[in-house]
Amino acid sequence: MNERILVIHGPNLGRLGRREPAIYGRETLADIERRLEARAQRLGCQVESFQSNHEGALIDRIEAAETTHHGIILNPGAYGHTSIALRDCLSGSPLPVIEVHLTNVHAREPFRHRLLTAGAALGLVAGLGPLGYELALEGLVAHLRSRHGT
Ligand code: DQA
Repeated sequence: MNERILVIHGPNLGRLGRREPAIYGRETLADIERRLEARAQRLGCQVESFQSNHEGALIDRIEAAETTHHGIILNPGAYGHTSIALRDCLSGSPLPVIEVHLTNVHAREPFRHRLLTAGAALGLVAGLGPLGYELALEGLVAHLRSRHGT
């Protein structure tokens, strides 16, 4: 099966590489997309990426993916800590979601310890940097294949 996976990046992630590199590293979003493209080719699936700084735009994209994609990888950025609207959208989506955070949010400031969105996700990868997206893709595709018996 040639699964179509949507990778969604929330606010401030468009500035990866330049944004607080001591915390988030030097890799840009384009670097992460290249990693995912290579991993997707090896796995035999398709990836498409979307980034927005706007909560409503993220929700619109998740809703639209229902008819176009098989699963979602989501780094909600700070909205993961604050957005009930994003949590509700994930809860209402039929698509499996793996949430990714580049950093281990549980080892950072207390306001990052609560993840509203993760409770509606199939799984969570945090603290492994850009590799986390690749591992999320592996996990999501394995989940979809086990569900379809392929
Ligand atoms: C982040 C962690 C969030 O706390 C932060 O607001 C981000 C990035 C991460 O990938 O580690 O924007 O989601």
